[in-house]
Amino acid sequence: MTERIVTADERSEDKEFDRSLRPRQLAEFIGQEAVKANLEILITAAKGRSEPIEHILIAGPPGLGKTTLANIVANEMGVSIRTTSGPAIEHQGALASILTNLEDRDIFFVDEIHRLARPVEESLYPAMEDFKFDFVSGKGAGAQTFRLQLPRFTVIGATTRQGMLSAPLRDRFGAVYPLYFYGSDDLFAIVTRSAQLLRVDVDEAGARVIARRSRGTPRVANRLLRRVRDFAQVRAQGRIDERIALDALAMLEVDELGLDLIDRRILRTIVEKYEGGPVGLETIAVSVSEDPETVEDVYEPFLMQLGFLARTPRGRVATKLAYDHLGLVKAASNDQARLF
Ligand SMILES: Nc1ncnc2c1ncn2[C@@H]1O[C@H](COP(=O)(O)OP(=O)(O)O)[C@@H](O)[C@H]1O
Ligand SMILES: [Mg+2]
Repeated sequence: MTERIVTADERSEDKEFDRSLRPRQLAEFIGQEAVKANLEILITAAKGRSEPIEHILIAGPPGLGKTTLANIVANEMGVSIRTTSGPAIEHQGALASILTNLEDRDIFFVDEIHRLARPVEESLYPAMEDFKFDFVSGKGAGAQTFRLQLPRFTVIGATTRQGMLSAPLRDRFGAVYPLYFYGSDDLFAIVTRSAQLLRVDVDEAGARVIARRSRGTPRVANRLLRRVRDFAQVRAQGRIDERIALDALAMLEVDELGLDLIDRRILRTIVEKYEGGPVGLETIAVSVSEDPETVEDVYEPFLMQLGFLARTPRGRVATKLAYDHLGLVKAASNDQARLF
């Protein structure tokens, strides 16, 4: 089986590397200049007033730096961060116990915040607004409501699906930052920085090859760097130059745009089995043996960014650019794809 280069889940090896390579300060965080400039102001202002920083929502595809930014904010504020994820908070009691244990100005980081259970989400509203938590004890006629006073704290929410957030939740964030795919200069800087931290010997041309094939995503850049390093260790005494990087990525079946086997299978499914679409997400997911969520969150955003895939009300459509990339011809007359 070919190894997948793009994965939704952070495997334990990746998690370890994510942690070791994660920038700790805003100044070390590469790219996303507008977000950094805004955060800098929020942080400085909040510190100047000795207040918690505003609630912040960070949105964007996996691997772009949402968790990293949340940790940087905590670090720059000099406060602790408590990390959890939407589906992990099972009921209101669990939320109450986390919130009451925070200290003044601490950060409560909720990953995948669009997946909070409804009752949990609803008890988060007054907590975010007034640092109050209404707790119902007992059932039926004997039920009593207690109001807990919480420490002043900040929610940082991360989501891959801004569109799935309810309006009342979104409205409670003072700042909303969408993250975008990184350009190849930023990725080059990220590859170079990671290579230094991991003591990998890579020349400029080698780093540029890796950067260009990283699908605009720092996590992918770091993952490719590690894979290419392994290859170089076996084939070239550990030294990565352009040739070694190109050979390693060819072996991993990562193409010149950074697409891997699954990306190409998604496009081929639409083009070859469904004449270019529209095709439903579920159908695509089944034919590439992935969850619909993974296809939608992990693969599609980059394919759309490249202009290879469009979402329409009736399903996904492959564009002419996708046909060109696959070396296929889209027949103009009857909209049928033809192999050649
Ligand atoms: N702007 C950046 N500069 C340097 N490294 C970054 C940047 N953004 C992300 N990374 C790297 O990519 C990895 C994945 O980032 P992470 O914050 O976990 O992404 P997300 O939470 O959005 O999935 C991190 O470990 C970090 O090493
Ligand atoms: Mg994350």
